[in-house]
Amino acid sequence: MERDDAYIRTGKWWHDKIIYEIYPKSFMDTNGDGIGDLGGVIEKLDYLQDLGVDILWICPCYQSPFIDQGYDISDYYKIDPVFGTNAQMEELLRKARERGMDVILDLVVNHCSSEHFWFREACRDPQGKYGKYFYIMDAGEDELPTNWRSYFGGPVWSPLPGNPGKKYLHVFHEKQPDLNWENAELRRDIFSMMKWWLDKGVRGFRIDAIMNIKKPFPLRNYNPDREDGMVEMETVIGQTRGIEQFLSEMKREVLDPYDAFTVAEVCGEREEDLPLLMGREGFFSSMFDFREMTLGMSDKGWYDRKPATLRQYRDMCYAAQKAFNPYGFQTNVLENHDSPRCGDRFLQEAMHEITGKNTLTKDEKQALAEKGKKMLAVLYFFLHGIPCIYQGQEIGMENMPLERFEDIDDVSALGEYGCAIRAGLTREEALSVVQQFSRDNSRTPMQWNDLEGSGFSTAEPWMRINPNYVLINEKQQESDGGSVLSFYKKMISLRKNPAYRNTFVYGSFTPVCENENDLMAYRRTGEADILVLANISGQIVKVPIDPSFCRVLLNNTDAFILEGEGTVCLEPFQAVVLEKITL
Ligand code: GLC
Ligand code: CA
Repeated sequence: MERDDAYIRTGKWWHDKIIYEIYPKSFMDTNGDGIGDLGGVIEKLDYLQDLGVDILWICPCYQSPFIDQGYDISDYYKIDPVFGTNAQMEELLRKARERGMDVILDLVVNHCSSEHFWFREACRDPQGKYGKYFYIMDAGEDELPTNWRSYFGGPVWSPLPGNPGKKYLHVFHEKQPDLNWENAELRRDIFSMMKWWLDKGVRGFRIDAIMNIKKPFPLRNYNPDREDGMVEMETVIGQTRGIEQFLSEMKREVLDPYDAFTVAEVCGEREEDLPLLMGREGFFSSMFDFREMTLGMSDKGWYDRKPATLRQYRDMCYAAQKAFNPYGFQTNVLENHDSPRCGDRFLQEAMHEITGKNTLTKDEKQALAEKGKKMLAVLYFFLHGIPCIYQGQEIGMENMPLERFEDIDDVSALGEYGCAIRAGLTREEALSVVQQFSRDNSRTPMQWNDLEGSGFSTAEPWMRINPNYVLINEKQQESDGGSVLSFYKKMISLRKNPAYRNTFVYGSFTPVCENENDLMAYRRTGEADILVLANISGQIVKVPIDPSFCRVLLNNTDAFILEGEGTVCLEPFQAVVLEKITL
């Protein structure tokens, strides 16, 4: 497929940006209640500016009962007191702007909280105005209008509080009732709310679970995919048509007039829909590339999920680039608040390969893991698209050890634990499944230093701090030129270097040595010609390359061995970025 060059040259303000995702609850606590807050984000703006990121995506910080960590909003216009005040949000917007950064908020409009005024009114009077803001159906006690399984497990229908004989739809948790987008009044309310935030200076949105806003009519059963007789929502949404009407209205009425930047959470998209979703005239500026995140997943649940290998990661990246690049700018991620940490996710197999053959000391193992994290960073950062860094990724934070069921916070992890037990796993086994895949892994407090509370808080934190904060923390890495943090800074400044910026942003992408199992390599070609090369295996690899790729722009180890003319010798997990020099 030919690239849509006209589009990429329109030079939108966000084309060359780097996004940083902030999970405010775990970022920085400034009032000593153990919970991160907006004051904490403001306090760390200098840190973020120094890191070099441009767009700050703040996960939901609106008023919420926090059943799903703020993705259950009870007032869209109000910052939750736990995070601070609306005035502080305005201060954050202003201070970010002063430092050349933009803020986007999380837009969660597939559902609200069951404590939102709309839903409370709907329960009080299901026939009234607000009853029409939701999907409410007549259904007897044991009756379910459809056999859909919610994303967090269990049926999507729950009894409407105070209304025997009625049920309402929630594709996530029962405390997250779905909003009825068929209702023009609801849409108008949502659009006004979006404009209200844009008027305050927010530059756009990360758009949550958006493909779910359209439901397939008539609502009906689908073929069950598990013994519970239900079908997963992915199947239902995959067969739904007609979301265009809502999304084009949102684009026309809200997003375009503000030149807003949007990045949509779209999963399992159909390839033919990509131009509609993210093309030049697409509904969104960008959408996440989640393909690598879903590696190893199983329809049955987490207990049946397989670890992902670096080779799978590579193949999936190539496939994703091929699919997305012709249309626009996907947003590339290694981690987010819904996924385990990337080192734990992608490096394990290769690490075993290496450590299995050698006796490594603890320090050597840590050095190897660090090298691996830097390699992953290089590999995704220079792909075509917009890089997004999740808080803590830039210092190489790791998964959280989980020993007791009581320590699980993530609602989806609780559902998956139950699912694993029903499938016959022992409690220990179920816990180890959750340990690997729980969303809590990435939601532990940010590790700012090695003092008690990891510099995150002076109080007991709302969630356990990973005990490895004494080894892995921002303060220590700040002064260490070889740290993961220092490496991220180098990587960011390379991407922004005027000599290479256009090539990284607009240049073409071509996989190199696709059949070479131990390598992930690609070229970015534009004003400059760049080769990204990494050894994704546990052994030394020798690669023949065009000898004119001789300028080393970035290297995650001290070693760079050119063996005679045109052969590069790479250590395990070594990643280099090379520029072609034409004399
Ligand atoms: C998205 C969010 C996730 C949340 C869900 C429901 O997938 O990333 O954290 O649980 O939507 O809002
Ligand atoms: Ca606080």
